[in-house]
Amino acid sequence: MTDVAVSAPPAKASPFHELKVLWVHHWTDQLFSFRVERPEDFRFRSGEFVMIGLPGEGGGKPILRAYSIASPQWDEQLEFLSIKVPDGPLTSRLQKIRPGDTVLMGKKPTGTLVLDALTGGERLWLIGTGTGLAPWLSVARDPETYSRFGQVVVCHTVRTVADLIYREFLTSGIHDDPLIGDEAKAQLTYYPTVTREPFETPGRITDRIRSGDLFRDLGLPEGFSPERDRVMLCGSMAMIKETAELLEGYGLKEGSNAEPGDYVLERAFVG
Ligand SMILES: Cc1cc2nc3c(=O)[nH]c(=O)nc-3n(C[C@H](O)[C@H](O)[C@H](O)COP(=O)(O)OP(=O)(O)OC[C@H]3O[C@@H](n4cnc5c(N)ncnc54)[C@H](O)[C@@H]3O)c2cc1C
Ligand SMILES: NC(=O)c1ccc[n+]([C@@H]2O[C@H](COP(=O)([O-])OP(=O)(O)OC[C@H]3O[C@@H](n4cnc5c(N)ncnc54)[C@H](OP(=O)(O)O)[C@@H]3O)[C@@H](O)[C@H]2O)c1
Repeated sequence: MTDVAVSAPPAKASPFHELKVLWVHHWTDQLFSFRVERPEDFRFRSGEFVMIGLPGEGGGKPILRAYSIASPQWDEQLEFLSIKVPDGPLTSRLQKIRPGDTVLMGKKPTGTLVLDALTGGERLWLIGTGTGLAPWLSVARDPETYSRFGQVVVCHTVRTVADLIYREFLTSGIHDDPLIGDEAKAQLTYYPTVTREPFETPGRITDRIRSGDLFRDLGLPEGFSPERDRVMLCGSMAMIKETAELLEGYGLKEGSNAEPGDYVLERAFVG
């Protein structure tokens, strides 16, 4: 008979990374951004989302929600942009995090707002409402975006001018990016629209597509073409549905990771 060493069963690996908060910035009483440290073995494609959360209160189950990663795949830190829902199970607490605190992050990033899910094309449109801007902050800082597309247009529709977070960054700050600054300067166009306050480009992006104002403002031929244009949509379900219908009307076909196409979509929230 041989002696068998009896050892405790291996501890079950946690499904979450526990990450230190490095930076928090409050834009408005509705919106904030934060950065966390990046685990060495965490890989993702620019535009993907991941589960973010906090431990449950009083030893309860952790509360997790989907969040787009707002930094590109090459960045050393991970950035997120968040809504503050006053009675939201997660964000009523998440909005109080400070540098040094810990947040939970799922280990499996996923999503369809990735360059892999799009076929060729010449011009990339990144159309978002509210926090649906988050994945564009990632895609617009990825060098592959500029090697694949000659022109990249970020369209951001919000209620008030104060909700145009990252406006300064997308207009000029990004030009100083050490990796893609020159490309962004030459190829990136930022197109904000505001629906509930006076603004130089007022109204919903869907209305500006229908009226042709979007294309006139940018000096482009009116409409989208399946040969030339590729589109990503993120934000409210209503905007996504309406814009997808418009794109289908122009002959664009929806793509996915399994079957790349002319446009891809992801809701950033229910509503
Ligand atoms: C694929 C995916 C990606 C997402 N990415 C982001 C992101 O990058 N940033 C982010 O803030 N949220 C994002 N969300 C929404 C996020 O998962 C949570 O809903 C949000 O953090 C609120 O959590 P909560 O527990 O406080 O409230 P919840 O109970 O989740 O939401 C309460 C209500 O608040 C409203 N709401 C929730 N999130 C938003 C939002 N982002 N914008 C406007 N209204 C909202 C909705 O009406 C919702 O029914 C994403 C959702 C999905 C499905
Ligand atoms: N952001 C704020 O200033 C604010 C203030 C108070 C409360 N809240 C609360 O915060 C939550 C999220 O607000 P949010 O502003 O981030 O998201 P939101 O309500 O989805 O609005 C974001 C932008 O998307 C536009 N939009 C909505 N449906 C559209 C469609 N079908 N096609 C094109 N554009 C469309 C809105 O235009 P319209 O304005 O025309 O709808 C708005 O400019 C809501 O629950 C809201 O009650 C937000």
